[in-house]
Amino acid sequence: MAIRSIRLLGDPVLRTVADPVTSFDAALRGLVTDLLDTLRGVPGRAGVAAPQIGVGARVFAYEAGGERGHVVNPTIELSGDPRVDEEGCLSVPELSFPTPRASHATVRGFDQHGEPVTVAGSGFLARALQHETDHLDGRLYLDALLGETRRQALRAVRTAPWAAAAPR
Ligand code: NI
Repeated sequence: MAIRSIRLLGDPVLRTVADPVTSFDAALRGLVTDLLDTLRGVPGRAGVAAPQIGVGARVFAYEAGGERGHVVNPTIELSGDPRVDEEGCLSVPELSFPTPRASHATVRGFDQHGEPVTVAGSGFLARALQHETDHLDGRLYLDALLGETRRQALRAVRTAPWAAAAPR
């Protein structure tokens, strides 16, 4: 049980496709606990994915829309018209940008014991589920930005105080 440090944009682990979990063992339960502990330490944040704490496994924890939990080996199904809303990421500190996302998402996967779980929601929860699932495929919300917003974001990222911490 531990609050783990968050990897920042520029760390290759954030751009690596995470591996499926194959053993629902003590190591996985430790990882889930660490994700939930780490998330608890950052109020106002919607989720944290394993690559963000340096672990290349398909697991994330979320706390959004009044729901809290974790999903192992998630698959995601999107529906509804795209909505644009402010989005940020622990790995891209102090910044947020209007980001288009599907208005509804359903995630299916497993809990830490290997039991099937389904999480479905709209609005903030749908956004969080898309954001965290993207992390497992090496994608960041910055990738979803378009046009002038994208240009602004890339400029802000280049000049961010934390940007020197790692090459991108
Ligand atoms: Ni994130």
